[in-house]
Amino acid sequence: MVRHESGKPVAIGIHDLALATSQHSLSLTDLADHYGIDPAKFSVGIGQDVMSVLAGDEDIVTMAADATARILERNGTDGIRTLLFATESGIDQSKSAGVYVHKLVGLPATVRVVELKQACYSATAALQFAVGLIARDPSQKVLVVASDVARYDLGSSGESTQGAAAAAMLVQADPAILEVENAAGVFTDDVMDFWRPNYRSTALVDGKGSIKAYLNAIGGAWEDYRAQGGAAFEDFAAICYHQPFTKMATKAHRHLAVLAGGNPTPAEVAADLDETMRYNRLIGNSYTASVYVALASLLEHHDGDLTGARIGLASYGSGSVAEFFGGVVQPGYRERLRGAEHAAMIERRTPLDHTAYEVLHKTTLPEDGREYRTARETTAPFRFAGMQAHQRLYETA
Ligand code: CAA
Repeated sequence: MVRHESGKPVAIGIHDLALATSQHSLSLTDLADHYGIDPAKFSVGIGQDVMSVLAGDEDIVTMAADATARILERNGTDGIRTLLFATESGIDQSKSAGVYVHKLVGLPATVRVVELKQACYSATAALQFAVGLIARDPSQKVLVVASDVARYDLGSSGESTQGAAAAAMLVQADPAILEVENAAGVFTDDVMDFWRPNYRSTALVDGKGSIKAYLNAIGGAWEDYRAQGGAAFEDFAAICYHQPFTKMATKAHRHLAVLAGGNPTPAEVAADLDETMRYNRLIGNSYTASVYVALASLLEHHDGDLTGARIGLASYGSGSVAEFFGGVVQPGYRERLRGAEHAAMIERRTPLDHTAYEVLHKTTLPEDGREYRTARETTAPFRFAGMQAHQRLYETA
């Protein structure tokens, strides 16, 4: 165990957490109207009200750069040696999207960058890898950046569970927000519940099978967590789940509660998770970012003081890998939160009508190397300007 000179073990975890989302949004009531179905299927049945929709000049890089720039504005770049970029919706088979972010936010050349992939899970792997790097050298800091756009075919059952967001975290020793505890439970199972072959921009999914796979994997991760000496279910003040749609989190929470010997009512489950689901209800699925959006939502909506409380994080990536781990909320964490910033970011999105949403959904990028320029739409600090000779172009807005 790495220790301070005082002999105390070094606490490592999340020092700052910033979110970014899209320029536009689509109300799920409008989506329900378009298909002539009861809006309650979305608001109650899957637990979603609105989803974030990217403008034509936004992508995973622009959202990630936005969130990362705000982390650097507050904390500077001193000590940062690594940027880990987690995504399901990668933009290049070879180059890490994080390298574009590295340039856009002005990180020094002495920061290594790599991209990690395992559907919605990889940001959790990145966080654990960051903790490992810092345990070796507590003077180093790591940026963990998760950024995704969840896209399914128009008219498919997955369409209502789309969304987009990025979460950037500064991970370091003596963190101000959440110390990541050592015990972690993991579970891997080769299952085809959700996948996206290289030639597709929208995911394929076995909807009902994916719900079962999620529950099975999160249960497996929980049991491994307990076997690794992890805390008991009742020792958690709250648990943040991966939220492809918020109803999924309620199914997962009930599943873990039953495994732990409980039998909560739907109202008890809803009350337990309410604060963790507020942002996700309005953003939709953000794949790798989703569980960290849930963490921000909890910390930023909880009225009381959570200092010293243990928070569970339940991460799931189809295909599949799940991980359950705990973190302890740090003294003074409230001063580091970005509640007003995040609320304003969600509030300022432009609601699209269904026609405009469909046009954006159907927009494709050239695959023949011809020059292509995007129209200026986003009001975010960075924009995707287009393509030239098969290269993506980014600029400061
Ligand atoms: N009022 C209230 N509730 C209603 C309703 C109404 N009028 N109509 C339907 N419902 C309820 C249903 O009873 C159902 O509830 P339960 O699941 O609690 O039984 C719920 O609304 C959904 O209804 P359906 O099952 O009929 O909906 P669907 O067939 O359209 O599919 C879905 C739902 C499978 C989630 C689909 O949206 C989907 O495939 N989404 C993408 C896959 C996904 O998100 N999977 C989650 C696990 S995988 C994962 O987590 C990784 C990831 O990020 C993708």
